[in-house]
Amino acid sequence: HNLQLLHTFSLPSQACNLITLESVDSVKLALPLSVPFVLLGQGSNTVFTGDFKGTVYQIKLFGIDVIERENDYILNVAAGESWHAFVQYCLNKEIYGLENLALIPGTVGAAPVQNIGAYGREVSDFIQRVDFIELKSGELKSLTCAQCKFSYRDSIFKHELYNKVVIVNVQFAIPKVWKAETSYGELKELDNPSAKDIFNKVIEVRSEKLPDPARQGNAGSFFKNPYISLNTLKKIQSQWPDIPHFQVDSNHFKVPAAYLIDKLGFKGHKVGNVECHKRQPLVLINIGNATGEELLTIAREIKYKVKSVFGIELENEVRLVGQHGLIDL
Ligand code: EPU
Repeated sequence: HNLQLLHTFSLPSQACNLITLESVDSVKLALPLSVPFVLLGQGSNTVFTGDFKGTVYQIKLFGIDVIERENDYILNVAAGESWHAFVQYCLNKEIYGLENLALIPGTVGAAPVQNIGAYGREVSDFIQRVDFIELKSGELKSLTCAQCKFSYRDSIFKHELYNKVVIVNVQFAIPKVWKAETSYGELKELDNPSAKDIFNKVIEVRSEKLPDPARQGNAGSFFKNPYISLNTLKKIQSQWPDIPHFQVDSNHFKVPAAYLIDKLGFKGHKVGNVECHKRQPLVLINIGNATGEELLTIAREIKYKVKSVFGIELENEVRLVGQHGLIDL
């Protein structure tokens, strides 16, 4: 089964089997899942670097259910719904809050896994509960927001529960009292914006900076923004005084990986048919007929150089799949 069109980086790759899961019952009936397996939504954060000798289960559960309460809306959204379409759906219903997360590719079920975030918001700000089928027991279980252990691009679903559950539904609680979140970058210039203004601005900024995966294969940010110690920050500042930094606790700062990669001159750098994007160097793109080897080579080159020049260990943000499952850089 060809996987090239099932992941947005669009590398040539095949899987032994491809199974579509279209309902909670079909998830239960598919148990035990055939090992090794990969659970897949729209493939916008997963890169198949070559053939995968296993089974890909594509999650295609659909449906949105809204309950209006006195102070908030409760939305139950099936895992296969497209994230951006859901954001748009809320806006149309005058349910405001998710607008900063417009145009993020992928499905609703994948959103909690890496706690998608952009422009000052994270999906965990609105998640009330995540429902899943536990693979071992076949039972439908749930975790509350606090139990999901959300943090920057991270959750329990990437660790203790990785490949142990199939997320089938995400429950959101969105307060009726709305407050604009405009503290990030380009949103600061908005004056007293409505949710729709923020939505439009986010779409404008993303469309300008980020390559459209439908036209140029990519998986968004390839690396996570690293957390560094005050000591490391001071050392870097002695040579690069303009490095942007955001304090996360008394001794740690988050710095943009894009800045580090940019300073090393990687913008526009190519290995075969993979290019470090010219406007947003955190994104690697398939300029046509790229291979997994080329992608791994350029990614390792960037990681190695950032480590040797800045002393910072970059971690990949995308999920890389090799022959038998997850691989590291
Ligand atoms: N920068 C440069 N050179 C560049 C581009 C950026 O030095 O060519 C520096 C600038 O200082 C800029 C900073 O990097 O202010 C941050 O850039 P940007 O606002 O584009 O955001 P980012 O940190 O690169 C993160 C997320 C994005 C998300 C944006 C906006 C991660 C890994 N990425 O990118 O998420 O859209 O913030 O909130 O946290 C994704 O996860 O796939 C993704 C696109």
